[in-house]
Amino acid sequence: MTFSRSIKIAPSILSADFANFGAEIRAIEDQGCDWVHVDVMDNHFVPNLTFGPQLCKAIRPHIRTVMDVHLMIAPVDASLQAYADAGADILTAHYEAGPHIHRTLQAIRALGKKAGLALNPGTPAEAAADVMDMVDLICVMTVNPGFGGQKFIHSQVDKVKKLRSMIGDRPIHIEIDGGITAETAPLVVAAGADVLVAGSGVFSGGSVMKPEVYGQNIRAIRAAAEGA
Ligand code: DX5
Ligand code: ZN
Repeated sequence: MTFSRSIKIAPSILSADFANFGAEIRAIEDQGCDWVHVDVMDNHFVPNLTFGPQLCKAIRPHIRTVMDVHLMIAPVDASLQAYADAGADILTAHYEAGPHIHRTLQAIRALGKKAGLALNPGTPAEAAADVMDMVDLICVMTVNPGFGGQKFIHSQVDKVKKLRSMIGDRPIHIEIDGGITAETAPLVVAAGADVLVAGSGVFSGGSVMKPEVYGQNIRAIRAAAEGA
């Protein structure tokens, strides 16, 4: 993975057909997505339960692009090895998941993975200040994590701007997660984001039988973002 700030669309398979991940992943990749975003939820850190390392490992061979694993679990440290072994390219942990984010980010890099730091809507940009040299990606949550299809929280756009200036020249992606559509994408891209996660925004209206809708959705978000 060479670093670039070009716009990347990362569909969240949280909005895919859970009985058909292989075909869903092929469909979104054939339709032009850049990364595949995998939402791991534990029913403890967030009030929803999705899947664990075994499922991540099972879908890995179906992903030709980048496997972007968003860990909404607490505690997180004891599970990092399992998600690394499952084949993630990027492991993102939440600042709010425990008292030792520094240790967590160190552990992710020690496993040879790109390290992501996710910030909930109530967590300020400054939470990233002392770990700036330990991260490859900062994920700004523009919804409270746990569910797809929620409304974009506009107050987060200022946080993206702040983070962009804190990052300076460092090769750190700013990823936006939650409520991304062709309407909201330009706001966050203008503020400095380069990775756009979209669940309902990509999957709604389509299916593996109608994959061209995924393509239309991806292109609409990309065109809006690139016009920002
Ligand atoms: C929320 C997840 C998101 C979610 C985004 O907890 O982290 O990745 O799937 O879904 P949309 O794009 O529908 O808001
Ligand atoms: Zn996510």
